Amino acid sequence: MNDVLTMALPKGRVLRAVAPLLARAGVGVEALLADDRSLMRESPSAGLRFLLLKPDDVPTYVEYGAADLGVCGRDVLMERTADLYQPLDLRVGICRMVVAGLRGRQDPKGVPRVATKYPRIAAQHFARRGVQADVVYLQGSVELAPIVGLADIIVDLVETGVTLEQNGLEVREEVAPVSSVLVANRASFKLRQEQMKPLLDALRKAVNG
Ligand code: PRP
Repeated sequence: MNDVLTMALPKGRVLRAVAPLLARAGVGVEALLADDRSLMRESPSAGLRFLLLKPDDVPTYVEYGAADLGVCGRDVLMERTADLYQPLDLRVGICRMVVAGLRGRQDPKGVPRVATKYPRIAAQHFARRGVQADVVYLQGSVELAPIVGLADIIVDLVETGVTLEQNGLEVREEVAPVSSVLVANRASFKLRQEQMKPLLDALRKAVNG
């Protein structure tokens, strides 16, 4: 059991982008891409076991050592502040964290109400700029908030820009660039260095090649 490395992966969009990268690094991804509901998948030839998780849970599994490695977005890392080693930017899942508002509408004069799935990132962004803001936490469909008057502006991820466009919103400011990062448990990274190194080297090559 212990000679297998465990990697926590986010289900969904990022997994579809990371799987080809793993394949280019020589990792068999057939089991990973199988269309079933099992949450633990194996790649025996690569000596890897994958855990399929909600993206927000990846840092938790890795920080507590339930996984040696993981893939998560910089957005999740910024919001969660887990103590993880970050050996490699995978340059997939590339998007931007932005402030957006209704197209052609001025920002409000008083304290803006900001809807977001990322309350910590939003609060830090406005604090850095010395702007007081009232942050409202939502779990999704954040673009709806300014349309129905729940908020004046949003802080959210933009990838293609289609969601903003189709909901009549525009980017006001960039908060941070976002991409998916390989993360590692600090103890595993030291103690299992020999096992991790070939995988890391192959992934680094796949990212750069
Ligand atoms: C994300 C993000 C935006 C959208 C941006 O939401 O929060 O809403 O994708 O992508 P685009 O610029 O390519 O349109 P997600 O799809 O995770 O759904 P959610 O709103 O339910 O969180």
